[in-house]
Amino acid sequence: MRVSSNRAMREARIRAIMSRVAASSSFESILQGQIDYYRARANEYDDWFLRLGRYDRGEQATRNWFEQVAEVRAALGGVPIDGADVLELAAGTGIWTEEICRRASHVTVVDASPEMIALNRQRLGDDATKVTYVLGDLFEWQCERSFDAVVFCFWISHVPREQLDSFLERVAAFLKPGGQVFFLDGRKEPTSTAADHVLPGESEQLMVRRLDDGREFTIVKNFWRAKDLEERCERAGLDVSVSETAEYFQFGIGRRL
Ligand SMILES: C[S@@+](CC[C@H](N)C(=O)[O-])C[C@H]1O[C@@H](n2cnc3c(N)ncnc32)[C@H](O)[C@@H]1O
Repeated sequence: MRVSSNRAMREARIRAIMSRVAASSSFESILQGQIDYYRARANEYDDWFLRLGRYDRGEQATRNWFEQVAEVRAALGGVPIDGADVLELAAGTGIWTEEICRRASHVTVVDASPEMIALNRQRLGDDATKVTYVLGDLFEWQCERSFDAVVFCFWISHVPREQLDSFLERVAAFLKPGGQVFFLDGRKEPTSTAADHVLPGESEQLMVRRLDDGREFTIVKNFWRAKDLEERCERAGLDVSVSETAEYFQFGIGRRL
């Protein structure tokens, strides 16, 4: 009873925020809140990936999660980035940076959270000498040069629907012609997130995220159909094929046309 009334209150709050956002036709404050959320979450971020604490959804779910992570790793392993000059957007604590760094000749990491960048650097250890860290807001960040490959994991879902096309056009602009793109995100599976999180409804793109200490933040969270993502990529000049694991992940592999 209590859980459903909490959920109703949270959903009513999200609806109120969404109508304010629509009224101001601006996501500026939500996107700043999203940065604040990841800055505050940095030290507990890996609990999600490792399925610990509020993200532990039982033995079977954890087994499924890591089996599907292995599928994603294998798919990334097939992307030709050996010796490449790679740009990784919103790299966070470096779960994927580590993987990329083993094969690339150089990685440029962009993230808006200094806390995430510090953890990424720490995880990479000696390999961090192959990484250039850039503190930047991806909705504004510009870059003069282009790369052999662009990677972004668990980022596309945090781009407002209205800004996805321009984001993908920017990805294409960051790439050399023929350059590789790899992205990864979550499917809409309730057990992928913490037990006390509620995923957005069908027509919504905001959700409330909670930290271990109870603080709450409203962020953007979109779930795309694979076909729609492929079409959006094509419009941006990217030839991408999107695949999905059984429950948890969706990933795109392709190249700039
Ligand atoms: C869901 S995490 C993904 C981290 C990592 N790619 C992974 O797969 O574990 C999202 C990341 O986006 C970063 N971020 C949030 N808003 C950003 C913005 N406007 N510009 C750049 N990075 C941002 C956060 O700091 C966080 O590291």
